Amino acid sequence: MHIPKRYRRNRWNQGIRSLVKETELRAGDLIYPMFVVEGTGVKREISTMPGNYHLSIDQLVKDAESLLELGVPAVNLFGYCENKDDGATESYSDKSLIARAIKALKQALPELYVQTDIALDPYTNHGHDGLVVGDEIVNDASVEVLAKMAVCHARAGVDMVTPSDMMDGRVGAIRQALDDADYSYVAIMSYAAKYASCFYGPFRGALDSAPKSGDKKTYQMDPANRREAIKEIALDIEEGADVVMVKPAMAYLDVIADARSNFKVPIAAYHVSGEYGMILAAAEKGWVDKERAMIESTTAIKRAGADMILTYFAPELARYLKG
Ligand code: PBG
Repeated sequence: MHIPKRYRRNRWNQGIRSLVKETELRAGDLIYPMFVVEGTGVKREISTMPGNYHLSIDQLVKDAESLLELGVPAVNLFGYCENKDDGATESYSDKSLIARAIKALKQALPELYVQTDIALDPYTNHGHDGLVVGDEIVNDASVEVLAKMAVCHARAGVDMVTPSDMMDGRVGAIRQALDDADYSYVAIMSYAAKYASCFYGPFRGALDSAPKSGDKKTYQMDPANRREAIKEIALDIEEGADVVMVKPAMAYLDVIADARSNFKVPIAAYHVSGEYGMILAAAEKGWVDKERAMIESTTAIKRAGADMILTYFAPELARYLKG
């Protein structure tokens, strides 16, 4: 039969499939979120996130070293805060767990790119990303604390701060504070389009950071909105973000694609804890193959337009990519 276009020819065998492949993941695209706790010799699996660990600083350094050997260039640190209070004072203390973790990592592994989360939720006893006055999560006072936190991490030697709080004006304030303190080479990856998502559940379990009352809908975006993401991203770039992030990733591929087509800056996507957990749970039931689901999901995130991916699969994925 004469069929003028036979697209299956380009899928006929592995050779041609390899040649026409449009998207290829690299270990170098990955950022591994890591969870630091007090103590020494601690490596405890996080019950809500199997395959991920609460690590004391000494163990963190060891695991980060193996990660580097696998070709993963960057980590994003979250600290388990034991001294939560109303003012999130631990968040900007030079003695904080995260400040000590940054120092230890940069000293042992100077080539590791170290990022830290900037938000108040693990540090406040109410679990909100900003300060709370009455029923309100107040904006401007929160931004001042976030800027102090960023400068504190810069003093400890961080390469990039990643504000995840979604307060208005925080990127500009952090840039200004860093520049004023002579940290003009500390970069900012902003969680520019971060949605009020149900998929953060396992992460909040890991840090005991779920809001004690209310929800995050007055600062994180409504999952129903797409155009609003473009405005948020544009503003963060204007305020000085070096990289902008879309979060979560798998359910927001349209937003990642919009970010890619509208802006020239590097785009990050956060494949979040609930997205990770869904794959693990389905694999445990025998409903999907875990390895294939891991590769397909992260490839799709890159195909949509992400230059870099924060994922809990980073070590496993890097091991797979190494072959
Ligand atoms: C803190 C923060 C959260 C995540 C990253 N930074 C939780 C939240 O906003 O409630 C979620 C990450 C994940 O689910 O993997 N602001």
